Amino acid sequence: HSALNLAVIGGDGIGPEVTAEALKVMRAASAAEGDAEITATEYPLGAAHWLETGETLNDETIERLRGHDAILFGAVGAAPDDTRIPSGILERDVLLKLRFTFDHGVNIRPAVLYPGVRSPLAEPGTIDFVVFREGTEGLYVGNGGVVRQGTEQEIATESSVNTAYGVERVVRAAFEFAATRERKHVTLVHKHNVLLFAGRLWNRIVHQVAAEFPQVTHDYLHVDAATIFMTTDPGRFDVIVTDNMFGDIITDLAAAVTGGIGMAASGNINIHGTAPSMFEPVHGSAPDIAGQQKADPTAAILSGALLLERYGRPGAAARIHRAVWDDVAAHAAGPSARSTAQVGDDIAAALA
Ligand code: NAD
Ligand code: IPM
Ligand code: MN
Repeated sequence: HSALNLAVIGGDGIGPEVTAEALKVMRAASAAEGDAEITATEYPLGAAHWLETGETLNDETIERLRGHDAILFGAVGAAPDDTRIPSGILERDVLLKLRFTFDHGVNIRPAVLYPGVRSPLAEPGTIDFVVFREGTEGLYVGNGGVVRQGTEQEIATESSVNTAYGVERVVRAAFEFAATRERKHVTLVHKHNVLLFAGRLWNRIVHQVAAEFPQVTHDYLHVDAATIFMTTDPGRFDVIVTDNMFGDIITDLAAAVTGGIGMAASGNINIHGTAPSMFEPVHGSAPDIAGQQKADPTAAILSGALLLERYGRPGAAARIHRAVWDDVAAHAAGPSARSTAQVGDDIAAALA
């Protein structure tokens, strides 16, 4: 088949360090599989670009990005003590703008405890679940404001937007995916004891969609209780579907219990195929370790595997998964002295 035409947005901090390794491994896997080549165009977005140009992500860049098959993303975001960059501007005007503009309604975040990887849980058992996080709505839409700012009467609001359309497509994606799995079970995570209106909508849609999937069982957990079970009995989860904000929080927890944020991958999926989907590690720019080749690129590499799987290259994706399993099993015993690039080299070499 034809070449895969990627856009690469390394971004800030460890972002460019880990996307470089992901690309290296994806190319090695494609070569080993005999797939057509992967072309990559780098887009310098993020803190440095903003400081230089005053721009986050302009319309022309969006149109160029739209012309790619898919996007490989690192992370954006400045260090918390960097006073030159207002908090959230890069996150909102680069990352979230991409998710919203390219209609990434389904954010897929697998949580797998690989053999040999140490979980911080004493008895983790088998952990293998996937979170389907809604990606374009909820508290993330920026629907809010402030009155009497700076006074003692200040009121700040941020309201969550949930549409039947947006909820249905992620719930349906979760059930379709669950139907392909062994346990075929979906858990809705929400907070309908407090969030009456959105909670009712999510509940109704889960029940409606569930009726079309008689082979898939489903249950419900309030998000606070879900965090209990994620640490006391994570093996109970198969597929979780949840809104944007709850999904953000529980996927960092899921990453932690499966051995760390350095291994958690994600895909921001445009299920309609109307714009490029975007694949990125769950973690951020990690300013505390940036530029030192200390970051674990495994999350970015596994995100690359999700990309290849989604874009018709399951063989190359499976090769990456096998190589990562072997790599983590061989190195999980103690603190790793390997550089970011060394991990990428080792995994790429194991594919050849
Ligand atoms: P973070 O995920 O960047 O870092 C949290 C902790 O995890 C840090 O101690 C970091 O060193 C460690 N860590 C993260 N990735 C790692 C890796 N691959 N290997 C080893 N250790 C790793 O979260 P934060 O500190 O809350 O955020 C830092 C910046 O990143 C902020 O500006 C935030 O807004 C931004 N952010 C961006 C994205 C994104 O672009 N997708 C995601 C999350 C946070
Ligand atoms: C993530 C990040 C982003 C989110 C931020 C940086 C906007 O935390 O991808 O999990 O909240 O979605
Ligand atoms: Mn997050």
